[in-house]
Amino acid sequence: MPQSNDKKLIFSGIQPTGTFTLGNYIGAIRNWGPLQEDYNCVYSIVDLHAITVRQDPAKLRQNTLQAYALLLACGIDPEKSIAFIQSHNVNHAELSWVLACTTQFGELSRMTQFKDKSAKHANDVNAGLFTYPVLMAADILAYNADLVPIGVDQKQHLELARNIAARFNQRYGEFFTLPEPYIPKTGAKIMSLQDPDKKMSKSDDNPNACVLILDDKDTIIRKFKRAVTDSESVVCYGEGKSGINNLMTIYSAVTGKSFDEITSEFAGKGYGDFKLAVGEAVADHLEPVRTAYAKLIADKAYLKDCYTKGSESAMKITRKVLTKVYHKVGFVDQR
Ligand code: TYM
Repeated sequence: MPQSNDKKLIFSGIQPTGTFTLGNYIGAIRNWGPLQEDYNCVYSIVDLHAITVRQDPAKLRQNTLQAYALLLACGIDPEKSIAFIQSHNVNHAELSWVLACTTQFGELSRMTQFKDKSAKHANDVNAGLFTYPVLMAADILAYNADLVPIGVDQKQHLELARNIAARFNQRYGEFFTLPEPYIPKTGAKIMSLQDPDKKMSKSDDNPNACVLILDDKDTIIRKFKRAVTDSESVVCYGEGKSGINNLMTIYSAVTGKSFDEITSEFAGKGYGDFKLAVGEAVADHLEPVRTAYAKLIADKAYLKDCYTKGSESAMKITRKVLTKVYHKVGFVDQR
């Protein structure tokens, strides 16, 4: 995993809570592979974040390995990037503590994801759920990352990371780079297929709302055929057509066609034809990911080798940063 000094650094992470959704894929992961050519990239399966909601330990372990295999199947090349499991690098949690001491209670209270998640998990509003964005800031700042590729739903957390970095710099002297978000122009918020005014999410109770990237072709087509749309019949992007807008965004993301091209392609045809075409295009697009995943998940020794080397490289970069941070805040140097 060669890291070059003259390239900017990218960090991003994804939670290992079951298979990735089409939203994770279009909004984030599929952009990660191409960035490897021009940037030093660090990608992590963020298992520390996952335990902010109750997890079955055996399932979490399995999901984490699967998520790691899926990351590689989506084009992250461990020879080009650092790809590791977050809990294998203790520096994230250590830096998180220091940053927590430069983060205000009020700032964390304003995070919309905290409000949503604490309403959803009302019987387990734990401190980790509240301080989650501080850990996310530590993930990014531990590498002094320049860019963070994310979907729109993580923008507020990134803004907080920038504020935490700026406050630290103000208190202790310029040190952290202020990270920029890298949000795709189309597909930064893929919506539910059953309620297109809501984000597509793996925690949706309705299985038809969400396409998983390991779903087989028939399942994908069935979910798209059942997608909720409006009562018109013309395939075009517009106000009040959130279902069709979402399907057009997805179709555009997997075929590379513009909205105008899509409208011409389906002129004179109905929504039924369009939904079928979207389902087929998505299934065909994801086929190589499914094939690569099947091979990778069967080779646990290879995966272990990759994530071990990944965390070793991640530790090296972040230990240097953390040593400087400890010095800046006034801890006694170890040697
Ligand atoms: P997570 O695991 O929820 O999602 C991973 C990435 O997928 C994007 N995403 C979507 N994009 C478009 N449409 C959707 N429906 C959709 N759903 C999810 C997310 O925006 C995200 O980019 N807190 C983060 C993980 C994290 C992280 C980090 C990210 C931890 N540390 C540091 C960047 C940098 C999260 O829970 O993402």
